[in-house]
Amino acid sequence: DSIPMPDNEARAAAAQKVKIGIYFATWWALNVVFNIYNKKVLNAFPYPWLTSTLSLAVGSLIMLLSWGARVAEVPKTDLDFWKALAPVAVAHTIGHVAATVSMSKVAVSFTHIIKSGEPAFSVLVSRFLLGERFPVPVYLSLLPIIGGCALAAVTELNFNMTGFMGAMISNLAFVFRNIFSKKGMKGKSVSGMNYYACLSMLSLLILTPFAIAVEGPQMWAAGWNEAVSQIGPHFVWWVAAQSVFYHLYNQVSYMSLDEISPLTFSIGNTMKRISVIVASIIIFHTPVQPINALGAAIAIFGTFLYSQAKQ
Ligand code: 3PG
Repeated sequence: DSIPMPDNEARAAAAQKVKIGIYFATWWALNVVFNIYNKKVLNAFPYPWLTSTLSLAVGSLIMLLSWGARVAEVPKTDLDFWKALAPVAVAHTIGHVAATVSMSKVAVSFTHIIKSGEPAFSVLVSRFLLGERFPVPVYLSLLPIIGGCALAAVTELNFNMTGFMGAMISNLAFVFRNIFSKKGMKGKSVSGMNYYACLSMLSLLILTPFAIAVEGPQMWAAGWNEAVSQIGPHFVWWVAAQSVFYHLYNQVSYMSLDEISPLTFSIGNTMKRISVIVASIIIFHTPVQPINALGAAIAIFGTFLYSQAKQ
């Protein structure tokens, strides 16, 4: 009323910035906790197909309970919504299980160094499969991203092909997931939180039969007994933590995707990886050679160049 419009606008813009800042900080913190517990679980219980299924199952359960208790509004969805969600869910499932298989084979930091190359996959997919064109600086920024990842990979002390390929497949799958999901969220009828809830549920349906086929209850039972005898009965809480934090960080990331462009999202995601890489190296005492760290730094620097070039 008495306040002139520009002031209001400036205030709203500042409030929006604070909100995004809080989303990002929460997203990164939850992601660090997820990565630590996920790796602790995988070290004692190397069954990534089950742990990735459990992450989706716990997330689905949390959301069903939230809807039941009216803590979250039940989304209004129709068949078209689920049809449009199907390709997103396939990509989410592949990306999730591939990243988890990767982390079961190599250091968390290595998986995330390779995953920091995601912008390169995004450009290559957009260019060659969708026919999109970019300014030359965007292509040039891919050189440090790809070169840095390659340097980090060849100097990695505990290199493992499955671990490497898992992270690469995850990159490719998540590029498709992000392209499809931004399209699917455009209608705005379903909030970011509920969009991710539905995505979890559909992915759970897709993943469960594959998890049973690849690993299966017999392996799980034997592995579980061994993990409990090694760690103790509180092992179950590690599994609960990795599952709950997986859901929470993804939920927050989808809530922020609701508010920001895919570009800002992917920059936020790469910065998230810096915290995960540093935290996991400290907590798991991961050996790193200087040349290896240099590769990671070049790849991440390349992502900043990429974001500048794309703006
Ligand atoms: C997963 O299990 O889905 C991966 O750890 C996710 O990786 P990202 O969300 O960090 O890309």
